[in-house]
Amino acid sequence: MTHWYDKAVIYQIYPKSFQDSNGDGIGDLNGIRQRIPYLKELGINAVWLNPVFVSPQVDNGYDVSNYFAVDPHMGTMADMDNLIQDLHQAGIKVIMDFVLNHTSDQHPWFQDAIKNPNSIYRDYYIFAGKDNKRPNNWGSFFGGSVWEPDPAGTGQSYFHLFDKRMPDLNWKNPEVRHAMLEIAEYWLEKGIDGLRLDAFIHIAKADLRQNYPTADNSQKPVIAEGFFANLPQVQEWMRPFCEEIKKDYPDTLLLGEAASASVNLAVDYTSKRNHLMDSVITFRYFTEDDSKVDKSFSAQYQPKELDFTAFKQNQAIWQQTLAGISQPTLYWNNHDMARLATRVAHNQTQARSLAMLMYLQRGIPVIYYGEELGLKNLEFDNIDDFKDLTVQDFVKSAKAAGKSQAQAFKMVSQTHKLPARNPMPWTTEKNYGFSTHTPWLTGKKLDHADVADEMLDSQSMFNFYKKMLELKKTDLFEEGKYYLLATDKNSYVYQRDYQDQSALVAVNLSEKEIELSLPDAYHQADLAAGEYEIKENKLKLSPYAGVVLEK
Ligand code: NOJ
Repeated sequence: MTHWYDKAVIYQIYPKSFQDSNGDGIGDLNGIRQRIPYLKELGINAVWLNPVFVSPQVDNGYDVSNYFAVDPHMGTMADMDNLIQDLHQAGIKVIMDFVLNHTSDQHPWFQDAIKNPNSIYRDYYIFAGKDNKRPNNWGSFFGGSVWEPDPAGTGQSYFHLFDKRMPDLNWKNPEVRHAMLEIAEYWLEKGIDGLRLDAFIHIAKADLRQNYPTADNSQKPVIAEGFFANLPQVQEWMRPFCEEIKKDYPDTLLLGEAASASVNLAVDYTSKRNHLMDSVITFRYFTEDDSKVDKSFSAQYQPKELDFTAFKQNQAIWQQTLAGISQPTLYWNNHDMARLATRVAHNQTQARSLAMLMYLQRGIPVIYYGEELGLKNLEFDNIDDFKDLTVQDFVKSAKAAGKSQAQAFKMVSQTHKLPARNPMPWTTEKNYGFSTHTPWLTGKKLDHADVADEMLDSQSMFNFYKKMLELKKTDLFEEGKYYLLATDKNSYVYQRDYQDQSALVAVNLSEKEIELSLPDAYHQADLAAGEYEIKENKLKLSPYAGVVLEK
């Protein structure tokens, strides 16, 4: 059976930051509706919306207090129905973010669980321990322990992998599994086309009575991925969930967020015979080069170059291993990481050639809003802007090593996820044409990107992305086989073959000019970033340049 998502080109929209329609500084669903013509013009055919459910916004919507309604800041259910309808009319599919590992502490289930000791919802969450002692030394991704004292004062603690206001659900409980399936089906019934399954690899936890082994046997919280990521029960519990969805809505894209999954696990998660996901989003593509890290203070938010040798190897392994199994997702950015133009690319030429490198491989492109303009992270100058415990620790450690506050903030601005959630710059007006009000997220804009100017300029990043996506949507780049060509670490070169067509994507990863020998007589350039020259099977590429060649 063929599916719409075999040829998906996804655009990730952070709804709070895309377009405000009611002047409160927060992007909303009607704002997205206004911008559908822009999405059409860019040439994507699906959008992934970060969570829009009712939420206290502790984690910008990943803390859900009501799954059956839209957060009032973003609109109403009628707005959502209209958005789905309008996107569909424009030929654009809708993927919603589905938060299934945890809820908000304001969710009625959790509220009942802590107010009523005999509540049936107590077993919807993970309560453990006694006498106010933490059951183990596991650490939360958001800093500190995964355990927080039960507000009911029972002496137990409850488990939270993320913020303490985001208690984890107990997936061991069949009622939880059933409830989450019902919520998913409620939205599918509305006509959405896919679910991005947030943090699904964490739904199973190991025996809670064990500490994560540490050198000093201390109780200091430590991230214990081995005890709460990718355990076998993840597959056991997700399978009936995915099977039911596919039975009732067979054309649904199930896109799993599998941050720490290795490629072998990605095979397990996406093999058709395992009845789980269609594709997963891994965070393993981007190995960083930490050789230049200043060891005198915390490495966490120090800017690091991408280790291109490892990156090239990662890409090739994911491409080759998933061949014939599933489509890898292809992306450079998302709301959880600094933007490509800040984190990796040294200049615009490189941002373009890296985009063609990534997206013309086999797989599903996921383009993060604003990336197509060359947007950079904002620069924050106040620690409160980051709203993050781990930033406080970093700034403290940098200052202790003699760095100034401004230097520390600059580093965090370049590496943190929050400054990558910028308001979309539609124009050069005040508030970027995003809102008539000050945007919910402010900071210094470090790029000159805006939609209005870029659409008019045939040489802009926007028009480059547009051309690249046109190429991507051809059979050659959608269905063609991928072959890595053996070249040294300064370049990444691969071939795509489909029937009698063949193309070569060649990218210079280095800051020097390079010369490559072409395996065949490729001459016609379909797309280029930077300067190139072809002479008798030799291709010269200027620093960071890239080119797509066809025979
Ligand atoms: C992954 C999401 O992408 C991230 O933004 C969020 O904080 C966690 N899951 C928790 O839901």
